[in-house]
Amino acid sequence: MSKKKVLVTGGAGYIGAHTAAELVLAGMEPILVDDLSRSNMSLVEGLEQICGRKMLFYRIDCKDPIQLRTVFHEHPDLTSVIHFAAFKSVGESVLQPLLYHRNNLGSLVSLLEVMKEFSLKHLVFSSSCTVYGQPDVIPVNEEAPFKRAESAYGATKQMCERILEDETKADEQLRVVSLRYFNPIGAHPSGLMGELPIGTPNNLVPFITQTAIGKREKLTIFGNDYNTPDGSCLRDFIHIVDLAQAHVKALQLIDTAPSHYEPINVGSGRPVSVLELVNTFMSVTGVVLNYSVGPRRPGDIEKVYADTTKSFRLLNWKTKLTIEDALRDAWNWEKRLSHAAD
Ligand code: UFG
Repeated sequence: MSKKKVLVTGGAGYIGAHTAAELVLAGMEPILVDDLSRSNMSLVEGLEQICGRKMLFYRIDCKDPIQLRTVFHEHPDLTSVIHFAAFKSVGESVLQPLLYHRNNLGSLVSLLEVMKEFSLKHLVFSSSCTVYGQPDVIPVNEEAPFKRAESAYGATKQMCERILEDETKADEQLRVVSLRYFNPIGAHPSGLMGELPIGTPNNLVPFITQTAIGKREKLTIFGNDYNTPDGSCLRDFIHIVDLAQAHVKALQLIDTAPSHYEPINVGSGRPVSVLELVNTFMSVTGVVLNYSVGPRRPGDIEKVYADTTKSFRLLNWKTKLTIEDALRDAWNWEKRLSHAAD
């Protein structure tokens, strides 16, 4: 039997490259596309080392239907698409909303148009728990209403989900699973792939590892006066490899999903505070972090973690790895990056 061929947009990115590794492990053939505007080939190189062979890679911009068509023409046997290609910096999206709307909405619309031309009917979409804002009920389930998005980035994720829902209503054959990620952290256990933040990291774990290695002087914990057990924010951190595996399960589900548009939370269901994560990093690595508590970061959600009932029921998936695993792997990746830079 021929291998399932899966188009992976944003395949050179953090989640895309890790997912490609899991697709290969599951016996599928990922075809990677990425415009490399927010990434470079280093994760693809790591992926090739992990898989022991070259990957099919196209440097194209997903917004451009002409470029997309060339890939679809070359691979008439594609069975499905996983769409990661998007800009993801919350702060940048506030400063440059049009850039985010054009890029994140434009690439999805072009992709759907070209999929329609080629009668490709299966799509897994990279969504985010950011669509919920601060939910009224936590753990949050997929029925929770979307709150007004704080950032243009969040708004694009909400709008992309709406576009997909509308399309599945209009096109009887189209089937879409939107995976709403909680906070992905960590790196591939091989040390060959991990996060590559551009400039100063906004996200907590790359900031922690860069402080630990000496690239940053000090970590600031944004607020300790929240209504949480230790006063710092609560999140649902999930190992990137667990997250990647959820995509394989989503592809397996897609044909038999109860609904043509299926949003599914991808989290561990376990709340962990920012302070707890910082302390766990220190105990797992033995590195003493230079940190202090600063003011709250505007726009931060106080607490959010996943109700995992649906992911377990429909995907038969739950997290296997721990935050300790994720922090150890993230630290190994940071050390490897710093050796490579020497
Ligand atoms: N934090 C700090 N110090 C830092 C960085 C972060 O204290 O230097 C805190 C934040 O205040 C927050 C927590 O760590 O309480 C997590 O912050 P991240 O920036 O790592 O993650 P967010 O939960 O804010 O947002 C992330 C992604 C979004 C995505 C969202 C939900 O950045 O793209 O998760 O998926 F939408």
